[in-house]
Amino acid sequence: MRCVILLAMLVSSRANAVQIKNESNLEAMRRAGRLASECLAWIVEQVEPGMTTLDIDDLQMGFARDRGVKPAPLGYRGFPRSICTSVNEVICHGIPDRNVTLREGDIVGIDVTLIVEGFHGDTAATIAVGQVSEEVAHLLCVTLQAQRRGVEAVRPGARLGDIGAAIQSTVEPEGFSVVRDFVGHGIGRRFHEDPQVPHYGESGRGLRLRPGMTFTVEPMINVGVPDVEILEDGWTAVTGDRQLSAQYEHTLEVTADGVRILTVQNDAGDWEPPGGWWPPGFPGAPGA
Ligand code: MF3
Ligand code: CO
Ligand code: CO
Repeated sequence: MRCVILLAMLVSSRANAVQIKNESNLEAMRRAGRLASECLAWIVEQVEPGMTTLDIDDLQMGFARDRGVKPAPLGYRGFPRSICTSVNEVICHGIPDRNVTLREGDIVGIDVTLIVEGFHGDTAATIAVGQVSEEVAHLLCVTLQAQRRGVEAVRPGARLGDIGAAIQSTVEPEGFSVVRDFVGHGIGRRFHEDPQVPHYGESGRGLRLRPGMTFTVEPMINVGVPDVEILEDGWTAVTGDRQLSAQYEHTLEVTADGVRILTVQNDAGDWEPPGGWWPPGFPGAPGA
């Protein structure tokens, strides 16, 4: 008897760790997601060769000040700036720096997280600085396609492993690799909540998705090895072989019959690329 009760407690406390948001929470999450999306799009339009990554942080600071919202990264576990800017071989968590100048042909990952009415909206895009080579454009297209397929695996009754499997099976046939050391995450009043959302895995495995869950899907895809190294600043994550890495991130909500993307600019929550930015040659892109 005692064992049965203990087991039930363990199981239920694990299940409770993943929150189900109520309607009023979800409405705030939608407003946070929309504003984060608008912010990312507004920044992306202004990126050009010659800018520094600290200029991008200035844009983020100005946007947040004008809208009266807080950029979540600032001071988060000691992070010193308001936005993450990850250039070329930087996988994620790049710190804006006045000594890092963007050059034609670079790629830069821009990761915006805003706190609106107490709730977080988290979205990222890796964009081209000026013109990039076909190889680089291919990495961006495959990464965005993987993000889209991962998101499209989300519906009530599906499992977390379905998301990772969709991403992995898009990326690996292209010869690229999925980063293991960083994962998507539950999100709400806290920046990072349960569950962890791996971008690799087996379909049919893992947590079963339910309406009212909110989490991110944010695959980081490397041209070469999946290995991560953290630089001496304690944040900047670079690829083990210093080859390129790309990432796209949306915050999303599991609905009664599917998924609503919160970090887009359409009310239905239909998928669109983070920040509204389409990599050159992306299949299905307007004008492609
Ligand atoms: N926005 C990142 C994510 O997608 C987290 C950045 S944490 C920071 O989860 F401290 F670097 F901002
Ligand atoms: Co995130
Ligand atoms: Co993010």
